[in-house]
Amino acid sequence: MGLNQPNHLVPVPSNPLQIPAAPTVTSTATTDAGEPPIYFSLIIPTYNECKNVKTIVEKLTKLLDGSIPGDYELIVVDDDSPDRTWEVAMSLTPDYPQLRVMRREHERGLSTAVIRGWQVARGEVLGVIDADLQHPPETLLQLLAEIKRGADLAAASRHVTEGGVSDWSVVRRFLSRGAQTVGLIILPGVVGRVSDPMSGYFMVRRSCIAGKTLNPAGYKILIEVLGRGDIRWIGEVAYVFQERQEGESKVTWKQYIEYLRHLLRLRFARWPMGKFLRFGVVGFSGVFVDMGIFYILRTLLGFGLTRSTIVSSEVAIISNFLWNDLWTFGDISKRQPGKRQRFKRLLKFNTICLMGVIVNVLLVNLMFNDFGMNEYLAKLIAIATVTLWNFWINMKLSWRVTDVN
Ligand code: GDD
Ligand code: MN
Repeated sequence: MGLNQPNHLVPVPSNPLQIPAAPTVTSTATTDAGEPPIYFSLIIPTYNECKNVKTIVEKLTKLLDGSIPGDYELIVVDDDSPDRTWEVAMSLTPDYPQLRVMRREHERGLSTAVIRGWQVARGEVLGVIDADLQHPPETLLQLLAEIKRGADLAAASRHVTEGGVSDWSVVRRFLSRGAQTVGLIILPGVVGRVSDPMSGYFMVRRSCIAGKTLNPAGYKILIEVLGRGDIRWIGEVAYVFQERQEGESKVTWKQYIEYLRHLLRLRFARWPMGKFLRFGVVGFSGVFVDMGIFYILRTLLGFGLTRSTIVSSEVAIISNFLWNDLWTFGDISKRQPGKRQRFKRLLKFNTICLMGVIVNVLLVNLMFNDFGMNEYLAKLIAIATVTLWNFWINMKLSWRVTDVN
């Protein structure tokens, strides 16, 4: 079933980068009948690929006509390339009815190009492939097989057995692996889910990102999809990143800066700000409990300094635990009912907070004695650092909040 593809460019969506829940139904210029949805939409982002676009369209058509004939579309999304790639792509549409072309004149960027393509896509499964033949088209069939097996997302990876890169320079390999390592530190729950988070070659079920507003930066669309989508099952397929024949890579140091910005933005988007603020309020209330008990023991009852400090700190820790268990993490502790569970949480909370006291003392000494910092400033920085430490470790261990959303 070919599309009676009218010979015009696909309009560029101007709304926010949100993926429609239902496939966009295109009405053809002549019949105005909506085109029925299809199974697979593959976006080919291009910038100065006039020498590659015909070859990639030919190869993809031959491959997909052999596996899902009439049930796929190719969408070239070109950012008004100086070499007029969009025009070359348009000249192909009469021979390739399943090809659609978008020319973006007011937006630039690989990731947003892919999303604009997905916004006008009619497929149930949305994919992306580079136009420069560095992503072997044959791998598509294995990715589709992964999706058919039930995967929500299928990614081509250079870092699984039989995967690899052709002859990338040591610098490029180092930069790629380095970027991945930074991602694992900042966003382990996202970047750590795939072996090749830098991959620009993957497909995802529309239902997993439907309604999500994606906000990528630079080149790494896969991280954005993993970070904001409802992705449960991920399939990976090995591929070898090929040598570019025509044109050149657009990756510059700017993409690496964009990548860092993107990681941090996703990190804070996934940071449980509400819980963190409550934890801070509880911790602040603990200061008053600590000082109040210390005053009673030390001044009213004449206890020794160390004993007063230890007892007042412990009472403050228990008070903080009770409030956090009830308010900050109430939604979690409700799922872990019973006195035994609660006591286990208290023990963990206590141990982590006491370790926090040690970290506090070490930090103050380090900043005051080694860096000559003002002791009150040192104390403040130590309190802020330990509060972050206490929050994150308690959330992961005491209340076992796994998927931070
Ligand atoms: N529309 C659009 N706009 N397309 C772009 C842009 C842009 O600003 N920049 C690049 N592209 C297109 C290129 O035309 C090509 O089809 C594809 O995106 C990849 O661009 P390259 O410049 O060739 O990137 P690379 O080969 O160095 O890196 C690729 O492979 C890596 C490994 O999979 C990219 O896909 C990286 O994202 C990926 O990590
Ligand atoms: Mn390339």
